[in-house]
Amino acid sequence: MTSPQNASAGSRFPKGARAFPHRDLIGISSLERHEILYLLAEAEQYVAFNRQAAKHSEQLAGLTIINAFFENSTRTLLSFEIAGKRLGADVVNMYAAQSSVKKGETLIDTAVTLNAMRADAIVIRHGSSGAVGLIANHVDCPVLNAGDGQHEHPTQALLDALALRHKLRERGNEAEDFTGLTVTICGDILHSRVARSNVLCLQALGASVRLCAPPALMPVGVERMGAQPFHDFEAALEGADVVMMLRLQNERMDGQYIPSPREYRHLYGLTPERLALAREDAIVMHPGPMNRGVEIDSAVADMATRAIITSQVEMGVAIRMACLDVLTRKARGVVGWGEGEWV
Ligand code: CP
Repeated sequence: MTSPQNASAGSRFPKGARAFPHRDLIGISSLERHEILYLLAEAEQYVAFNRQAAKHSEQLAGLTIINAFFENSTRTLLSFEIAGKRLGADVVNMYAAQSSVKKGETLIDTAVTLNAMRADAIVIRHGSSGAVGLIANHVDCPVLNAGDGQHEHPTQALLDALALRHKLRERGNEAEDFTGLTVTICGDILHSRVARSNVLCLQALGASVRLCAPPALMPVGVERMGAQPFHDFEAALEGADVVMMLRLQNERMDGQYIPSPREYRHLYGLTPERLALAREDAIVMHPGPMNRGVEIDSAVADMATRAIITSQVEMGVAIRMACLDVLTRKARGVVGWGEGEWV
């Protein structure tokens, strides 16, 4: 069995730049382009590691990681748990529904309680935008945002970038970034932390991003983020290299935003006919969970040569291993953490 090694940062870092001088991972908005590329580079070793039959290392042995999830999750929770365990850490999951949060404990008291247990990293998903950043201010260890309200889902954007890069490489495109690519993101943009993190990440890596949603599900001011807004899905698809579909986040809707799922599919569902408007070989992505027959048809979601939805899930484990590894380097005394230049 091959154990993962710390990847060399290589020559792409600006002179004097630090590889990853952050204690926490709260959002893509606080990352520089070279820091995003660094996390992607670090994740590559874990992609290979995870494809081995035996996949266990002792890299984080002795560390305790707490996954505190105040919202439901399948992919993010399980992949963080698998990531920590494959690296040899002790991983504990806290589900808010079974915790003292239900007895009225405040978010900050919960954070202070987790901190007192001497966690070495805390992974948090919460329904309120900004909650993860708030918790980070009350604990002594690295905090990783596993999705906070409508704000950010940084590891999702990183895993999406890694999956996209793998697909492009499979097609012979060895570029490190996405310069020249047009990515159309369609769905409930208003409530989507995935859209926000992806706009930031894709643009940092050189892609042009189009955002498409019904008027009621498009936030104001997306142009200020540098994205091109569309309400006409067919226009948004024209010539796109990548189509990323998002589900309707009914759990965040406090009223009627669309006439019906059937009407929504009629205008915004990705069907094989609509996909034909994008580039001939356009790549199809979805962060999951999917609502088949609403925002995406099975005939598209299951396209073996173009849909990379299961690859996104695979890359999620590798990205989360890389993030846990990088953010716990200070605790582990790994030489080079945030100190001067990496060579
Ligand atoms: N994409 C994503 O965050 O999925 P989960 O809600 O299942 O974690």
